[in-house]
Amino acid sequence: MIKIAPSILSADFAYLGRDIEAIATADYVHFDVMDGIFVPNLSIGIPVLQSVRKMTALPIDAHLMIVQPVRYVEQFCDAGADLVTCHVEADTPENIHLALEKIHARGKRAGVVVKPNTRAEAVLPFLEACDIILVMTVEPGFGGQKFMADMMPKVAQIRRYIDERNPACELEVDGGVDAVTSKTCIASGANVLVAGSAVYRSADIPAKIKELRG
Ligand code: DX5
Ligand code: ZN
Repeated sequence: MIKIAPSILSADFAYLGRDIEAIATADYVHFDVMDGIFVPNLSIGIPVLQSVRKMTALPIDAHLMIVQPVRYVEQFCDAGADLVTCHVEADTPENIHLALEKIHARGKRAGVVVKPNTRAEAVLPFLEACDIILVMTVEPGFGGQKFMADMMPKVAQIRRYIDERNPACELEVDGGVDAVTSKTCIASGANVLVAGSAVYRSADIPAKIKELRG
C-alpha cells in the first residue's frame, strides 16, 4: 500500500492544529527539521514537535536536515517522533550508525536520507540497520520546488537493494511530489510519498491525499 506523508513545512504555522487535523487521512506527519547549516534555511524543532505530538495519533516522520544528527536524535524520539531519518552526508558513517542505534534504543524507527547528488550506493552500509530510506527528489531546504525526475533510476536501484537485503524497509521520496509525479515515484518503487505544497495548496486535502495514493 502506498503511504502519504504530508509535510507540515507547507502548513500555516499560525493554524498548525487545524492543518494537522486536515491531514487525518494520511499515514505519517512529515516533520522537516533544518539547522541553517546543513541546508540554507531554518525551520522547526523540538518544542514544535512536542506540540504536534499532542495534536495527532498519526506516526510522526522527523526528517533531520541538520549536521551531526547524532547529537539530537534521542531528543527527537523523546519529543514524540516515531521515525527519525538522518542524512548520510551530515556526519561520518560511524556517527550515522550511532544515530541509528540511538533511535532504535528508544524503540523508534530509523532511516537514512540521500541528497540528489549522493549515489544510491551510499545507503548500502546502512541498509540492514534501516526501517526506511528517503530519497530526496529536490535539493533539501525548501518546499515548493520542481520534482527531479532524474532521481528515478536511483529510487529504482535502492528498491532493488531493499528487495534483496531488507524487504521490510520502506522507501520514501521527498520533494516536488504531486498527483502526476507521484505516479512516477510509485512506478520506480517508492512506497511512501512526502508531499507538502501539493497537499496544503489543495482545496480538498482528503481528496488530494487519496489521489496521491494512485
Ligand atoms: C524539503 C523538505 C520537504 C518539503 C517538500 O527540504 O524536506 O519535505 O517540505 O515540499 P514539497 O512537497 O512542496 O516539495
Ligand atoms: Zn522532508
